[in-house]
Amino acid sequence: MSNHGPIDFVGDRFSTRGVCSRSQRRPVGALWCAIGLSVILLSALGGCGGGNDAPAPATATSETLVATESSLVAQGKDIFRQDTFGNEIFWTDTLRMHEVIELSVSPALALSVGLKVDADALPAAVRQALLDGTADLQSPATTLALIEANAVVGVRGTVETVNGVKRLTRMGITCALCHSAVDNALGQGIGRRLDGWANRDLNPGRIIALSPALSGADKAIYNSWGVGKFDPRHNVDGLNNPVVIPPAYGLAGVHRITLTGDGDRIAYWNRYVSVVEMGGQGHFEDARLNLNLTRGSADLVSSKLDALEAYQLSLTAPTPPAGSFDPVAAARGRALFAGKAQCMTCHSGAQFTDANERLHPRFDSIAEADIGGESPSYASRSATKQYRTAPLKGVWQHAPYFHDGSSPTLSHVVGRYNQHLSLQLTQQEISDLSEYLKSL
Ligand code: HEC
Ligand code: HEC
Repeated sequence: MSNHGPIDFVGDRFSTRGVCSRSQRRPVGALWCAIGLSVILLSALGGCGGGNDAPAPATATSETLVATESSLVAQGKDIFRQDTFGNEIFWTDTLRMHEVIELSVSPALALSVGLKVDADALPAAVRQALLDGTADLQSPATTLALIEANAVVGVRGTVETVNGVKRLTRMGITCALCHSAVDNALGQGIGRRLDGWANRDLNPGRIIALSPALSGADKAIYNSWGVGKFDPRHNVDGLNNPVVIPPAYGLAGVHRITLTGDGDRIAYWNRYVSVVEMGGQGHFEDARLNLNLTRGSADLVSSKLDALEAYQLSLTAPTPPAGSFDPVAAARGRALFAGKAQCMTCHSGAQFTDANERLHPRFDSIAEADIGGESPSYASRSATKQYRTAPLKGVWQHAPYFHDGSSPTLSHVVGRYNQHLSLQLTQQEISDLSEYLKSL
């Protein structure tokens, strides 16, 4: 089972002081709590490797070590893309998303809320129909065909023929839902998977709000989140201020994970999100968050964490496309970054962050400082109550910027720093610094 230390599994229970005690008073909290009380277990996790491989023997040659490492990464890739950790209990039994999808979610609607289609998984006939423009994108039946082919990124479903009719009987979600994009090779939202890229087209709140199990008040909260944003603490503290979905690449060497540096390794947050947010079967506890949560009586999370982490560590930030920045201006911007603009006092080292040495009080985030602070601050809801200096490799790729997505472009970011820190950069210097950021 777990190789992450002893975990006390006590069946389906929450701690008395954890999420339920506070959140059961609210309908949304009660809903999330209901998952923890459910005992149905699913084993329909086709193709999931799990993390049971024995470690490499001490006498292993470097070749076998490399092979073991890459098989761990391959397992992690499979888990990242395909594993639901048994969260069908939440998405099917509680939220009843399968009913909405089969009745009313056409591919056109699915694409409009940012869901992506994996072109490599498409059956030849569907692929051809998409290319010819003859696929019926208005029919939920086409969505079912895509789900049956396992071609909707981050969505796993079981399609069965019931009384001669295709029905979606179970569905759950995977990490790829929020942390993968596609290259749009076959059309907007349809192409090859780009794992680790934040799906900034996704509107998770709007998707959850489609559930027939939610009250109007809950739907209003979810619908308020907006494109590319999710509140991973809402179902714990009942507050509502969503953050941008960040990339899951470029994190090797960064030992403070999340926007607020809550964990010192990726596996910390992967356990949080798979159990607490996605509704998977397993255990998460963190006294700093007053959170102690066990869902289900089996642990479908712990054994997968090493592999999942290894895969994410293998995902490097994408390099900027040729011609996307002016190299001469970027070279001038680099000098400003280290000098006059003082960026390197925080964005230091190979990953452009001082995260391994320190975190920062909330007003060190310009997004908070120049508007006088959001209320409540996202940092105040986290385990550390601080912000991590954002790593900047691949920053060209994932606008909008800052935890709240309040800067649409990199020149907007630099303009805000210039004003708030009174850097006295000229227009030319702001532009040069932006070109440098685009080159990272
Ligand atoms: C519904 C959308 C959603 C899903 C599904 C999701 N995440 Fe996230 N993820 C987020 C958001 C939003 C954050 C930002 C939270 C924060 O850092 O405070 C985040 C943060 C992260 C981070 C931190 C990145 C950093 O810069 O430190 C990692 C790593 C991560 N997620 C991996 C995963 C993995 C692995 C899974 C599957 C177990 C997963 N996520 C599932 C939305 C999602
Ligand atoms: C006092 C420390 C500090 C200094 C100085 C600083 N930053 Fe930051 N930077 C941060 C923190 C903390 C964040 C994360 C804030 C948030 O998400 O709200 C951040 C975020 C960013 C982001 C957004 C990245 C993303 O993933 O959305 C960019 C771009 C950025 N900084 C560029 C710069 C530039 C350019 C300078 C110099 C003009 C600079 N920073 C100076 C601490 C600093």
